[in-house]
Amino acid sequence: METPAPAQLLPKAELHLHIEGTLEPELILELAARNGIELPHPTLEELRAQYEFTDLQSFLDLYYANMAVLVAEADFADMTRAYLRRARESGVRHAEIMFDPQAHVARGIPLTTAVAGIASALAASEAEFGITTGLIAAFLRDQPEDDALDVLGQLLAMDAPIIGIGLDSAEVGNPPSKFIRLFDRAREAGLRLVAHAGEEGPPSYVWDTLDLLGVERIDHGIRCVEDSRLVQRLAAGQVPLTVCPLSNVRLRAVDTLAAHPLPQMLASGLNVSINSDDPAYFGGYARENFQAAAAEFSFDADTLEVLAGNSIRSSFATETRKAELLAELARWRAARG
Ligand code: HPA
Ligand code: ZN
Repeated sequence: METPAPAQLLPKAELHLHIEGTLEPELILELAARNGIELPHPTLEELRAQYEFTDLQSFLDLYYANMAVLVAEADFADMTRAYLRRARESGVRHAEIMFDPQAHVARGIPLTTAVAGIASALAASEAEFGITTGLIAAFLRDQPEDDALDVLGQLLAMDAPIIGIGLDSAEVGNPPSKFIRLFDRAREAGLRLVAHAGEEGPPSYVWDTLDLLGVERIDHGIRCVEDSRLVQRLAAGQVPLTVCPLSNVRLRAVDTLAAHPLPQMLASGLNVSINSDDPAYFGGYARENFQAAAAEFSFDADTLEVLAGNSIRSSFATETRKAELLAELARWRAARG
C-alpha cells in the first residue's frame, strides 16, 4: 500500500466522476504516442488551448475526441490508476466511478477491453490506495435507447463488475422518458440507478427522472431551485444530489461560482454532496472543488462535515464501510474543536 492520505484531509466519497474525464492532457499525449495515434492538437500547448468551454456540448466534443487514445486494456487501467492516486491525495475514501461504454464500442474498442482495464485498477484500489470503489455504466442520452439496451445486455451477459447504471451526455432534447425501458431492465437486473438531470435541462427533467426512471440519486440537479415544489419533494425524500461546482462554472451552467445555488440548496435542506465530474477538464479534483466552494461561501467545519457526510451516506458502499468512514469523519471534526 502507498502512504495513506494526509490525516488533515476531509474524508469523503466521490459519487459523480466520469473516468474518461480524468484523462489529463499529459496522459492523453503519452497514450497517443504509445498507440501511434495522431491527434488534431498534438502538443500540450495546443491541446490545453482547447479547454475553453461555452456549454456542455462544447466540452463533450473535446471529451469524446480525446478518448481516441484509449485503445488497449492497459490504457484504461493506467487512466483509472492515475485517477485513484489523485483521489487519494484529495481525501476520497470511497469512489463510485462512471464510464461510457457506448463511447468506446462506437470507436471499435471491444467492451471487454474497456471493462477489464478499468476493473483491474479498481480491484487493486482498496489495497493500493485505501479507496473502496464501485463501477457505474453510464449511457449516452443522445444515442437511441435500443443501442443502450444492447450494450446493457452485453454487460450483463459478460457479468461485468458494475453496481449500477447512469445517464449522461447531451441533456436538452433527450428527456428521461426516452429511457424508461433501459432503467426498467437495469432495475430487474438488480442494479442501482442514477442519472444526470437538471444540469442544463429544466426542472421537469428532474421530476421525470424520479417518477419515470425511479433513480436513487440525481447527478447535478442544480436547476431544481427554479421549482419550489420540486425542492420540497427532493428535501422530503432526501434524494441525493451530486453537485459539481467547478464543472458548473466551466460549462457555464452558472455565471460564476458566487452565483452557484449550492448555499441555497443546503439552506433548503437538500441532500447535496460536492463532486468533481470531469476533473482533468474543469480545474480540479474533489479537494479543489471543496476548497473553491468553502472559500467562495465561507463554509465552516460543520458545513464541510455535512457535505462529506452526505457523500458517504448517499453512496452505495456497504453499511460497514459507511460506518467506518462516518467515524473517520467524526474524528476529523473532533480534531477541529
Ligand atoms: N454532463 C453530461 N455528460 C457528461 C458530463 C457532464 O458533465 N461529463 C461527461 N459526460
Ligand atoms: Zn457528469
